[in-house]
This record gives sequence, C-alpha cells and structure tokens, in this order.
Amino acid sequence: MDVLRIEGGNPLTGTIQVSGSKNAALPILAATLLTEDPCTLENVPNLSDINFMTQIMEYLGSTITQETPGCYQIQTPSLKTKAPYELVRKMRASICLLGPLIGRMREAEVSLPGGCVIGQRPIDLHIKGLKKLGCVTSVKNGYIHIRADKIKGAHVFLGGRQGSTVLGTANLVMVATLTPGTTRIESAACEPEIVDLCHMLIKMGAKIEGIGSHTLSIEGVDRLHGCTHNVIPDRIEAGTYLVAGAMTRGDLTVKGAQIRQLGALNDKLSEAGVHLEVIDDETIRVDGNASELTPIDLITLPYPGFPTDLQAQMCALMSVTPGLSVVTERIYPNRFMHVPELQRMGANISIEGASAIIQGGTPLFGAPVMASDLRASAALVLTGLVSEETTWVQRIYHLDRGYESMEKKLQSVGAAIERLPQTAMPAEFID
Ligand code: EPZ
Repeated sequence: MDVLRIEGGNPLTGTIQVSGSKNAALPILAATLLTEDPCTLENVPNLSDINFMTQIMEYLGSTITQETPGCYQIQTPSLKTKAPYELVRKMRASICLLGPLIGRMREAEVSLPGGCVIGQRPIDLHIKGLKKLGCVTSVKNGYIHIRADKIKGAHVFLGGRQGSTVLGTANLVMVATLTPGTTRIESAACEPEIVDLCHMLIKMGAKIEGIGSHTLSIEGVDRLHGCTHNVIPDRIEAGTYLVAGAMTRGDLTVKGAQIRQLGALNDKLSEAGVHLEVIDDETIRVDGNASELTPIDLITLPYPGFPTDLQAQMCALMSVTPGLSVVTERIYPNRFMHVPELQRMGANISIEGASAIIQGGTPLFGAPVMASDLRASAALVLTGLVSEETTWVQRIYHLDRGYESMEKKLQSVGAAIERLPQTAMPAEFID
C-alpha cells in the first residue's frame, strides 16, 4: 500500500485542470447498459471507482475498450441480471446498476451495498419508487431480487428524511425511460450529475422533461440507441482545490469546472473571506493572499445547497480560520471521520450531534494520519499542506477512488507532496 508524505508550508501557485466527474460518470456508465448499441463516453476520470464499475459491467456482459485515456467504447449485446457480492461490495454506487437491469431485462439481482464509514447507505427510497412502477422486490441472502413483468409508468414521490436521493433518482429515471406510460418523479435530485445523466439519456432517444428541476416527467419508449457523450467536469474536485488554494494562501487557478455548478461553494467561500475571481465560465482563481479568512456557519443540503462532499474540506479550512465556526451535516449526520484525524494534527474541533464546532487558528502540526473515506482523505491532505513538519497519510486507496492523480496535480502547483511505498514511513508510524 502507498502513503503520501507532505511537507507543509508551500503556497499553491499555478493552474490545476479539473478531471471528469466521478459522480456523473458512474450512473452514465450504467446507463450504457440500457441499449445493445455501442456507446462512446469521453472525459471519464481515471479512478478506482470507475475501474470497479467497468469490472462489474464486463462481468454482466459489456465489452469495454479505451482508445485514448478517458475515452471509453462500450457495447453490451447481452446482459446478465445478477451483480455478485464480490464485485458490488467494492463500491456502494454500483447500486445504480438496478435501473438499467430492470429497464432492459425486467429483472435484477444485486447484492445489497451495505453501509460505509460515512454512515448508513439505505436504498428504501429506490425500492419505494420501483414498487410504485409495479416491481416485485424481495431480499434474500444479502441480495435484492426484483421482477418487473408488469411494469408501467406511475407518479413517484422520492423525497426522504434528508431530501432527495441522487442515485435513487438515477435508478428511477433509467427504469422509466423504457417503461410503458409516463413516470412523474417528484422530489427528484437535481444535482448536475443527474442533469448530465438525463442529457445523455436524451441523446439515446429517451423522452425526459423537467431536467434540472425537482420534478421529472419521463415518457417510456420501446428502445434506446447508442450515443457519444462527454462527461461533465467534477465540481467536488474543483471545490477541493479551491479550498486548498485558500488554505495555503496561494494564487491558484482552477480550470475546467462549470462555475455555475459551484454557486453554494463560492457563496460560502466568499462569506469566509476567500478572494475568488471568476475568469470565465470554466475558470476561477483563488487569491489566498488577498483573502481575510473569517469563521462561518455552514449547513450541507441537497443541490443547489452546499454539497456534503465538500463538508470535510471546509472543516479543514475552518481549522485554519481564527474564530468559532459551525459546520452542520444534514445529509450524512455521522460524516465526521476526518475530525479525529484533524484533531491529531492540532485542530480544535468538537462534535455536537450533527455539527462540528471549530475553534480555528490553532497551530497545526504534521502527523501520521489515517484516511477513512474519500472526502475525509482529501481534508487530511489539505491540512497537511498547511501544517508544520511532515504529514504521512496512510490508506490513500480511499483518495484514489475519487481524485485523479491528486499528488501530481498538487506537485504541479508547488506542493511538497509525494506518493511513496508504505515502507518509506518511519517504522513506528506504520499501521
Ligand atoms: C451520491 O450518493 C454521491 N455518490 C455521494 O458522493 C453524495 O455524498 C450523495 O449522493 C449526496 O449528495 C454518487 O453519486 C456515486 P443519496 P447517493 O441517495 O446517491 C438517504 C462522494 O464522496 N437515503 O443522495 O448514494 C441517505 O442515507 C460520494 O463522492 C435514504 O434515506 O446518496 C443520505 O442520508 C459519497 N434512502 C441521503 O438520503 C435511500 O433510499 C442522500 O443519499 C437513499 C438515500
């Protein structure tokens, strides 16, 4: 296993190019199973989660080739309907295979995803929506079995205790595109990643109205055809690097993101005294030197609210912001695995229910820390960039799930960070 060694103190200066969106690419890969025609996907990020998804798809019957990096040719002439535990357990998001399996084959047998460190990951809303369409579901031996012999369009309310469900919306939309009649989804997720999925489905011949809103109306068609689709850039990756530029008091330009998708983040960063300059629709500059960091009160919400996937990164920023900040997590109330590790680096954070109370501005020191989930890992790296002395981040396979070549991108703008074999760590630090 590899580790990251970070020497803190270097301001990030230069330009970072954003990669394709993991959370758009995953349901979009699944959507190619809805047709036996060939599909071409461009700007697919090079991530372990993408590799997990393509492994499952190949098991199910897809032929997948990469002519050039990030450009996938996919064709699935026939489709198995059982996604096995040994593959599904590697990545919870594989639950978005339910949609295409039911849409095209009218049956599915998928291992239940189980939970993960950021909290419970239920699929009750997915099941509620599928049942409304006429699916018959049962759970046995850790698998969910679904038959859809008498499926037809219906009116579905998909809202849950924490608002919409992103992959639940993706599943329902994918099923509805090939379901006779009209399906109306209320309280649908309207994240940019869902919008991108719908845009691709339209290219495949789907009939979807209300894209970008919380109410979608889908008219089922007999079949979908292949298409070519360019995956949107990753807004969470972009936001992560904007926070890094602010924390290190650098002069960092982030290129390739769709700025209009960063509204909540830009609003909160501005409120936190971060100096942002929008250069054009896809380019934003953070001037750390011109920033006067100010504590904030932040609450995560479904889109267009502040994204939960940037919550850990904001805890890191508030740890270096003098004053009292409050970060409240409304989507995954337990999503604070980064806090104990940040505390070990000197951050003054306490957890009160679903809120992190951060007394920012305390000196931060490098330490051997343990990555636990994708976004918590990013927060540890960002904190290492501003900590005195050396930070060793272990279990960085979590990071590799969602950040393409993070250490290379950070090195290119001046960070003292390198990926090393675990044996390079001082023996007393090795987990
Ligand atoms: C997607 O997960 C993202 N993953 C997550 O990003 C992201 O944090 C999440 O949406 C919220 O924005 C992908 O797109 C691959 P949800 P998803 O269903 O769809 C509850 C990352 O770091 N819920 O929108 O699985 C659930 O417990 C990852 O890139 C139910 O109660 O999330 C949560 O509290 C982490 N019942 C809330 O809704 C359900 O049936 C939002 O979950 C489904 C969800």
